[in-house]
Amino acid sequence: MDEFHPQTIIEPFRIRSVEPIRFTTMGEREQALGEAGYNPFLLHARDVLIDLLTDSGTAAMSSRQWAGMMASDESYAGASSFYRFEAAVRDITGFKHVIPTHQGRAAEHILFNTIARPGDVVLNNTHFDTTRAHVEHAGAEARDLVIPEGRQPRTIHPFKGNIDLQALEAAIREVGPQRIPAVMATVTNNSGGGQPVSMANIRAAGEIAHAHGIRFIIDACRFAENAWFIKTREEGYADKAPIDIAREMFGYADGCTMSAKKDGMANIGGFLALNDDELAARCRALEILTEGFPTYGGMAGYDMEAIAQGLYEALDEGYLRYRIRSIAYLGEKLTAAGVPIVQPTGGHAVYIDAREMLPHIPPLRYPAWSLNNALYLLGGVRGVEIGTVMFGLQPDGTEQPAAMDLVRLAFPRRVYTQSHVDYLAEVILAVNAQRDRVPGHRIVWQAPVLRHFTARLKPIA
Ligand code: F0G
Repeated sequence: MDEFHPQTIIEPFRIRSVEPIRFTTMGEREQALGEAGYNPFLLHARDVLIDLLTDSGTAAMSSRQWAGMMASDESYAGASSFYRFEAAVRDITGFKHVIPTHQGRAAEHILFNTIARPGDVVLNNTHFDTTRAHVEHAGAEARDLVIPEGRQPRTIHPFKGNIDLQALEAAIREVGPQRIPAVMATVTNNSGGGQPVSMANIRAAGEIAHAHGIRFIIDACRFAENAWFIKTREEGYADKAPIDIAREMFGYADGCTMSAKKDGMANIGGFLALNDDELAARCRALEILTEGFPTYGGMAGYDMEAIAQGLYEALDEGYLRYRIRSIAYLGEKLTAAGVPIVQPTGGHAVYIDAREMLPHIPPLRYPAWSLNNALYLLGGVRGVEIGTVMFGLQPDGTEQPAAMDLVRLAFPRRVYTQSHVDYLAEVILAVNAQRDRVPGHRIVWQAPVLRHFTARLKPIA
């Protein structure tokens, strides 16, 4: 018989521990959302059927991860779990110093507190919110330099997360290298649709930074997904293993910040990794102050075991093929039905363009927030608004429309199956079929900063 090449990409695992999800009626969901002030962040998770709020810390762990966790070493200093964690991070990133932290933003806090001063400028394709917040907390400016294609939802480009290299050179000339503590690349570019950065772009950005004596740091949260896009889209990488692609990426940089809640396949944890001895020593001093002793840094020994194993599982080809395919699969179904999404689909999420889908809701009536609530009411699905509620409030208290109004549907790793995705597409299409009946919202209470987490809203009749 001929060799069989299946078209169906199946989940590369079988399930031997299950967690029930709870079905609710539309009436129950109406009540739950009303009690939550029409803010999905304030829902009880047990009232959500398919939870796509984030891919962060929501992964299902493998039997090997659990086995490692059972055998962890919880010693305060010098735990063998730390040395296994350190060895895994070094093996994959090549960086000399591994500084454990409780999650990604703690690594950012330590790094920017140590390297950034008022008046400095940090350059990045797009700073994630917490990265920007820590740069600004240190008194510096966070400047985004993604290529123009990366700002246009429907432009197709294989590496929409790329840094605009001309803009990078121009910014370095304008600001001066002594005021730039780091050039960064966020892989994949979460705030820009989970879009990848090419190897050529990473290499060139590193060379430009180094030519001016500036350090180059990778925000590595989704490094394995980025490696997969390089393998499948960039010439010369088709036959390379994801781990070797990852090693090459990190090889162009001087360090990385990492949230192990993403491609660490863990529920908590992170790290800062660096080559520079003197900088690492200064970062460790701050780590002891805020995170803990340098061989645990805010994690339990079992967290470090989960990550030491998880980092390798995230680089498994069968896993990555399934992971990226499940996102593309939903994207294809929505595109075929005419639902506007950020194209092409990225690594960890599908982003629906709510401003385009719901033209009757003006930006200041929050189209993406309204769409997200409609998805919950109709189908028990929870995504997250990345739009005017999240970014619209200005420091002077006025409101401006955000650049885009998107609903991000982020996929937890190894949690949902293809039938969950089929159901999800059905819910989105059902909302799309009656989209002119989706009401806008107004805010009835808000906090002065990061209002989206706690705001209370009302639908507009
Ligand atoms: N960098 C990027 C690119 C991220 O996506 C995140 C978190 C962080 C840093 C911070 O890591 O949460 O461990 O402190 N992103 C999550 C999300 C919260 O939903 O996209 P953390």
